[in-house]
Amino acid sequence: EKAGFDHFMMKEIHEQPKAYRDTMGSRIDASGSKVVLDEIKMTEEQIGSIRNVHIVACGTAYHAGLVGKNIIEKLARIPVEVDVASEYRYRSPIITPNTLVVVVSQSGETADTLAALREAKRCGARVVAITNVVGSSVAREADDVIVTWAGPEIAVASTKAYTSQLIAFYLFGLYLAQTLGTQEAGYIAGVVAELKQLPDKVERILGQAETFKDWAEQVASHENLFFIGRGLDYAVALEGSLKLKEISYIHSEAYAAGELKHGTLALIEDGIPVIALATQEELLEKTVSNIKEVKARGAHVFGLHAEGETELVKAVDQVFSIPHTLPLLSPALSVVPLQLLAYYASLARGNDVDKPRNLAKSVTVE
Ligand code: M6R
Repeated sequence: EKAGFDHFMMKEIHEQPKAYRDTMGSRIDASGSKVVLDEIKMTEEQIGSIRNVHIVACGTAYHAGLVGKNIIEKLARIPVEVDVASEYRYRSPIITPNTLVVVVSQSGETADTLAALREAKRCGARVVAITNVVGSSVAREADDVIVTWAGPEIAVASTKAYTSQLIAFYLFGLYLAQTLGTQEAGYIAGVVAELKQLPDKVERILGQAETFKDWAEQVASHENLFFIGRGLDYAVALEGSLKLKEISYIHSEAYAAGELKHGTLALIEDGIPVIALATQEELLEKTVSNIKEVKARGAHVFGLHAEGETELVKAVDQVFSIPHTLPLLSPALSVVPLQLLAYYASLARGNDVDKPRNLAKSVTVE
């Protein structure tokens, strides 16, 4: 049942290229230049009336939502807020009939996410669900459903569900842009072409998994570490940090790289591992200067950058190149090394990788 892998998590990490292909599937037209989302029943007029978007989810699905905000704002130019479902419910969010609420849930059964969906509907908003389970509560109660075709996810630590949620957001963002006319057809076709190349690029990263076994063995003896990044790299850093905490039990914090000097830099001391994500070309220089700040205080820095870049090499102790893609799409690649790092760190510490302590796969209580 684990298809030759030692753990479900590793099997599921390796199923990501297939999950990407299946989630894109027939949602890209035959010419490969635009997105077809027949499951969205919203009319053009309804889409045109959207004034703001609220993305609501928990845990890893919330982290997918943080990337989703960037995607929708960039492609469709609609303002987006992202909330943790257990906060959203109780903060009296301003929801109007022109608000589109997007709930994200692998299981479709998370209690807080379901309650947020109900609150949104009560206020007259239209709800789109991104879920991996056809027929789940969230799928049944939403107005529109985008199913992620990741297949069953057994390991408590979510991997392929997260990345297929990202693919769903790319498709949805492109669909909104097409409908609203916020991006030119040529630009959309270019993004679609790059999307289709992601599965092969994930396979290339998986072929280099040993690198992250090595990194994991170096960090496994530490009790604290940091993930830093800017923009989309920060969103991915949050997910990498959660993954590591969840299964290796190493405490880590994800920080917006530019925010370190406002307090957290005080925690950087000799030998502390820092995972620096620097895949966003236009932010590279700024991130490098933040890396220098932690290096100067003795941190051991592991860097992730886009293939072809050279600037990071001198600034860090060890570096890994992510296959080149559009900066907007890089989260769908850069998270994979962090999943592998968490997996091998958990293994190195002798933990139960698939069933971490204190946690359940589906959180159906508040
Ligand atoms: O089924 P859901 O997507 O609604 O679950 C949300 C979270 O409980 C879940 O993503 C959790 O954070 C994962 N165990 C993280 O790996």
